[in-house]
Amino acid sequence: MKDKDNGGDTGYQEGMNPMVSTLAPVVAGRPGGNDGRTRINGLACRECGDTYEIAPIHVCSRCFGPLEVQYDYELIRETVSHETIARGPDNMWRYRDFLPLDGQGDTDWRVGWTPLVRATRLGKVLGLNNLWLKNDAVNPTYSFKDRVVAVASSKAKEFGFDTFACASTGNLASAVAAAGVRLGLNTYVFLPQNTERAKFLNAQVYGANVVAIDGTYDDVNRLCSEIADQRGWAFCNINVRPYYSEGSKTLAFEVAEQLGWEVPDHLVIPIASGSLLVKITKGFNELAKVGLTNGKSFKVSGAQADGCNPVAHAFARNWDAVKPVKSPNTIAKSLAIGNPADGYYVLKTTRATGGSVAEATDHEIADGMRLLASTEGIFAETAAGVTIAVLKKLAEQGKFGRDERVVAYITGNGLKTLDAVDALLGETPVVQPNLDAFEAYLSTRH
Ligand SMILES: Cc1ncc(COP(=O)(O)O)c(C=O)c1O
Ligand SMILES: [Zn+2]
Repeated sequence: MKDKDNGGDTGYQEGMNPMVSTLAPVVAGRPGGNDGRTRINGLACRECGDTYEIAPIHVCSRCFGPLEVQYDYELIRETVSHETIARGPDNMWRYRDFLPLDGQGDTDWRVGWTPLVRATRLGKVLGLNNLWLKNDAVNPTYSFKDRVVAVASSKAKEFGFDTFACASTGNLASAVAAAGVRLGLNTYVFLPQNTERAKFLNAQVYGANVVAIDGTYDDVNRLCSEIADQRGWAFCNINVRPYYSEGSKTLAFEVAEQLGWEVPDHLVIPIASGSLLVKITKGFNELAKVGLTNGKSFKVSGAQADGCNPVAHAFARNWDAVKPVKSPNTIAKSLAIGNPADGYYVLKTTRATGGSVAEATDHEIADGMRLLASTEGIFAETAAGVTIAVLKKLAEQGKFGRDERVVAYITGNGLKTLDAVDALLGETPVVQPNLDAFEAYLSTRH
């Protein structure tokens, strides 16, 4: 029996967020610029629509809903085209017009513009003729988190913070640590103590202050909210979350551009806080809004581990709200968020598009990692194991048409989670350094 619990009453209510801003709402103006228009209008509450000026805040002080960056899409439509984007750098900053920065960002840091791979061999195994993999395992610190951190770190710098920090399930920590080095920010990263050793080392090596917390990710996140208030630091997924989360939209923009500005039929995306799934969807919707794609509809499905499945659990029961998992227990530690901030919005998004949310066991996750590596030559981490296992499940359930264009997001690198496949792959045989011994070894292989 797994040590997790999403059956009991946790007191959680929709819209509840422990990180409450005390700032009063201010109607955002339209500062300066040509004929008084700027790309970025301010922040607005996703729930009640109250507006705020651009500031390091993330929660509506009226209703506690999450704040979203507001853009002038008419202005973007008038000034951005396929050609202007193509002239941009070959990294995520080619989409800067859709990102909430005043400046240019760290355009020399090659985050994004990662391969979109046509997965013919894996597709054959799964009975899918038009399967694609967005391989974000090859970013500078080996996960998609470099994208969100690229935006958050530059924004933190614009706001004038000198310390940049995060609560992390593992990958965010190294992305924050590396960005801090590049932008000259002090970094503090907080992780649950049971995070993989490789993920601690991948943050420590950059010189970050790495803090292991004796608790779950939700405990870490709660502590970090208190630290953010107390110390006035920029926390990626707390006070600069509205800016941070926008970075994930570039995973939609790139896929559309790499497909010749076409929209896939179905996306499969791993879920931890749920922000990635919600923002990739938003990215495709923005492209349609400004006329860069034809606005074709698409389905969005989510993937979780069965040892931390609050969204899949709610989806299966047709609930609107997510009941937190108190003690996650899965090898997919990067996805082990028991109380996902965007869980409610993932349910809304997946249902509205006609997609689903499914879950995978530890065994299926490790198998998914091996299947991906042995068919497509991509060694990705446990989160990708979850994605591939759920992709397989949904294919078996007939959720995709045979010829539908399906894109699965591969979000982290397998070298950070070696333990997950260790047991599956077994010992490497040792052979004496002579031909007879090698022939003897070969005879055991057939
Ligand atoms: C490798 C990987 N994939 C996916 C996710 C999910 O991201 P989100 O929290 O935005 O749902 C994470 C989050 O840490 C991650 O590390
Ligand atoms: Zn509100």
